[in-house]
Amino acid sequence: MENRFKGRSLAVIDDFSIAERRYLFEQTKILKEAILNNDEATLERFRINDPDFGIYEIFLEPSTRTRESFRNAAKFHRSKVNDLATESSSFNKGESYADTINTLAGYHNGLFIVRSKLEGVCRWLEEESAAFALRNNLKEKPVFINAGDGKHEHPTQELLDEFSFIEDNGWSTKSIHLALVGDLYHGRTVHSKADGLRIFDKVKIDLVAPPELSLPEAYYLKMLENGFEVRTFNSIEEYLKGGEIANKWYFTRPQLERMGEKILKREDELRGTITFRRQFMTLLPEGTKFYHPLPRHREHPTIPTFLDDTPLNGWEQQSINGMYVRIVLLALVAGKVGDDFVTDEPLRERLDEEYIFEVPPQPSKKKEPYSEGVRPIYEGLVIDHICRGDDPASIRRHMALISKVMNLDEGKGGEWVSTSHKDPNLYKGIIFRPGIHKLERRDLKRLAAAAAGCTLNIIEEGKVAAKYRTHLPPRIYNFDDLACNNEACISHPSHNEGVPARFERTKDDRYSCAYCGTIHTFKEIWK
Ligand code: CP
Repeated sequence: MENRFKGRSLAVIDDFSIAERRYLFEQTKILKEAILNNDEATLERFRINDPDFGIYEIFLEPSTRTRESFRNAAKFHRSKVNDLATESSSFNKGESYADTINTLAGYHNGLFIVRSKLEGVCRWLEEESAAFALRNNLKEKPVFINAGDGKHEHPTQELLDEFSFIEDNGWSTKSIHLALVGDLYHGRTVHSKADGLRIFDKVKIDLVAPPELSLPEAYYLKMLENGFEVRTFNSIEEYLKGGEIANKWYFTRPQLERMGEKILKREDELRGTITFRRQFMTLLPEGTKFYHPLPRHREHPTIPTFLDDTPLNGWEQQSINGMYVRIVLLALVAGKVGDDFVTDEPLRERLDEEYIFEVPPQPSKKKEPYSEGVRPIYEGLVIDHICRGDDPASIRRHMALISKVMNLDEGKGGEWVSTSHKDPNLYKGIIFRPGIHKLERRDLKRLAAAAAGCTLNIIEEGKVAAKYRTHLPPRIYNFDDLACNNEACISHPSHNEGVPARFERTKDDRYSCAYCGTIHTFKEIWK
């Protein structure tokens, strides 16, 4: 049977399906028991045992747990493990991520573990290095594991968190009630939970953070979309007065240093709202466990050290589990285990659907007097129904953008804001350009991406010769004038990494950056 884990990258937690993650946890349980019982025969089943299997650690931000647990996991596998000295590497001579990684891939390294402040870096490298491998006849395309990218995701931390939760749940994935406490705004381990916790059938989340550190809306909405029940509280004190209290608490480190002087002046006050205090102990439900991705601050720990030697301490086992989970992850993507994984699920498919429809032109109706001054054109094009339902000012702004994107800024013609025949309160935009009517398929794609929902009429000899309706494309890419508006994204033009912007349509008809996941409306993706 084909091993469906072999050669897979993990850029975001959702790159592994729920069934795949549950399989990973089953295997981790077996491995952990085997390590604790010195069961060498079982451990051999997991070992890659290939000194030529090259694992490279590339950490452009500090780390202890992720870097060292992966390094120790690689040693378990008896693999070659390297750590790029990023400070003294040619990164500091302005070399791009792609050139750096491709160089190392050429030295027979097939797996890269990358931590960076740039969001979406692993998704980009996965694509870029696959092309490099093909050009250079490398045996395999390189695999990328995201070890934390900016404020985006930390999928391997999510794996070990999920493993620890279900271990403490007696291996049940039926339900979880989890309080997320701390810096929910910056915490990438929290952001991975919006998809990660889908391994549980029923999820109840309590968000405990002052407004300054609250969860970004995109992740909050994703939790709701995933069917989680979500409540919000401004502080632990407020939460403990709020009725039903979670029996699992997940703390994250406040990253106040990222938030400017105004916030730093209120550091003590903000930290106080998310720090556990001795007097709260009696208010916790029986069997409560605390978790933390760590590190915790030595001067200002939000889980105080007096709790270390209490049954609340779930964070130490959680940290230890990190190595077990990562041993199994490496074994899976190397194809060492996973042959017996059976599922009916197809691998995630790309959306391929038509979004430009040619519609038969309607026979022209009896002419009515022109109330608004626009007269039909004899030759040219008319783009109608632009931003139907928006307010006139934003329709005008968007028509200027469409005109630019479609290269219609030169020559005669104009833009008009009108109302629908059926509803005089429903505004729409119309662009007309006499003389221009040669549009290629690529132009129609651009039009759909910039003006979904519009109608394009090609006018010849005073008649509608062809008519197209555009829908939102499933993907938008391959245009130079697209850009993700997240400045931390690997594709943002400010980083000069040469990463072309690419977007995928979301369930609610917005566009998610293919690298960092930032959500945009279709109007926001143009430079
Ligand atoms: N949890 C975590 O990512 O820890 P490190 O920053 O020490 O790797």
